[in-house]
Amino acid sequence: MKRSIILSAFFSASILAGTAHGMEMTAGQIEYKQACASCHGVSGKGDGPVSTYMSKPVPDLTQIRARNDGVFPFQDLLELVDGRLSERQPGPHGTEMPVWGERYAFGDGVDDPVEAEINTLGRMASLIYYLHSLQEE
Ligand code: HEC
Repeated sequence: MKRSIILSAFFSASILAGTAHGMEMTAGQIEYKQACASCHGVSGKGDGPVSTYMSKPVPDLTQIRARNDGVFPFQDLLELVDGRLSERQPGPHGTEMPVWGERYAFGDGVDDPVEAEINTLGRMASLIYYLHSLQEE
């Protein structure tokens, strides 16, 4: 009983805004549009307006599973987008890809460090679920 209340609270919190056409956007989609689309493009193809200023090509995020032999590497992506465990992820960390774990942890005005960390991980997890929904193959 308690669990279903918690689950339904989580579920309703993950569906935030409605669009003009009545389509609902997920939390991950909202985060993506705000934080990622400038470089990776609204479609995820790596063609956002800021991508032309990057010294490296901005990867196509709709092909992550295809590039990884049909496996969507949820954990690796979470750590990569987080970026705080830098020694475990050479890739984008340290390049022009921002360290999202730091931005989210210090950027949302929550004083309690545990609550801030839960918010940070939740925002990143919602993003990775959204990236999962973008996979084309
Ligand atoms: C300022 C531009 C910029 C923004 C904003 C940005 N990225 Fe990136 N991202 C990059 C660049 C550049 C790379 C490639 C870096 C490299 O190859 O070293 C990259 C790489 C990645 C990768 C690795 C893809 C792969 O298969 O190699 C993922 C996943 C990713 N970004 C997700 C995100 C997410 C999620 C967000 C939003 C929270 C985001 N990015 C925001 C520039 C950006």
